[in-house]
Amino acid sequence: MPALITTSPSGDEAEAREIAARFGLAYAARANRLIDELLALAGGSPVLVLSARTAELFSSTQDEHGAVQLVRRRATLGMALMRLAHVLESEPDSLLRASGLRPGEVVIDATLGLGCDALLAAHATGSTVIAFEKSPLLAAFTQAALRRPSGKGRLAKAALDAGARIDVRAGDHREVLASMPDKSADVILFDPMFRAPIDAAPVFDVVRDYAEMGQLSPETLLQARRVARRGVLIKDSPRGTELRRLGVTNLYARRFLFGWLDAT
Ligand SMILES: C[S@@+](CC[C@H](N)C(=O)[O-])C[C@H]1O[C@@H](n2cnc3c(N)ncnc32)[C@H](O)[C@@H]1O
Repeated sequence: MPALITTSPSGDEAEAREIAARFGLAYAARANRLIDELLALAGGSPVLVLSARTAELFSSTQDEHGAVQLVRRRATLGMALMRLAHVLESEPDSLLRASGLRPGEVVIDATLGLGCDALLAAHATGSTVIAFEKSPLLAAFTQAALRRPSGKGRLAKAALDAGARIDVRAGDHREVLASMPDKSADVILFDPMFRAPIDAAPVFDVVRDYAEMGQLSPETLLQARRVARRGVLIKDSPRGTELRRLGVTNLYARRFLFGWLDAT
């Protein structure tokens, strides 16, 4: 059974139905059910609960003694908000510097994950970011987070504005890019799963649990260069193993390594 989406008493049933339909999740009315009852209804799949200001993902796991534990994760833009706050203070962001994104450019983020890079790209360009995520559950989780930035004031408004311009789509970028016309977007971003993930933020556990782990292939890069008008940016761990494997030159290093390929 696919993951199930529902609401808390403050949540909007129309939004839960819309997200379920867009990403292929099952919708169930809350009907006063407890989380345990919803997890049983989901038949072992996770349950995403939308409230007015928060969204939480519930799943169950067994500890080493076989006891069932409830796992609860809040959909948050944590790291993205920190990076956006720095950018609003005119501090550099490594992804923006490596990609040289300019206002008006259209970006495809081929590996949405938690949407941090997509949010920064949407803010920098002021344009739409088309974002693909292979896991429908992660796509739904991130979509819910993008609509619920924590805090108030300038930062929350900038995050909400940029998040509203991210067109989240569940899909495999290998298939989607192959079907797109030449020169459909300015820049394509790839941030595939590293063999040894280095992001220690607790919310990143959701990505580790549900992400597509497949490697980026040379064929996918060929397609991306064809679909791009300006070029393709690939983010790698500091060791640069993926960039070396793909024969891409390291372009810019800070916490991550970035490689760039010009459009064909
Ligand atoms: C390292 S995370 C990306 C993190 C993201 N850049 C951010 O800022 O939050 C990689 C994500 O890409 C997704 N992914 C990997 N291969 C994919 C594919 N072929 N198509 C679409 N998404 C893919 C994974 O499911 C995972 O969520």
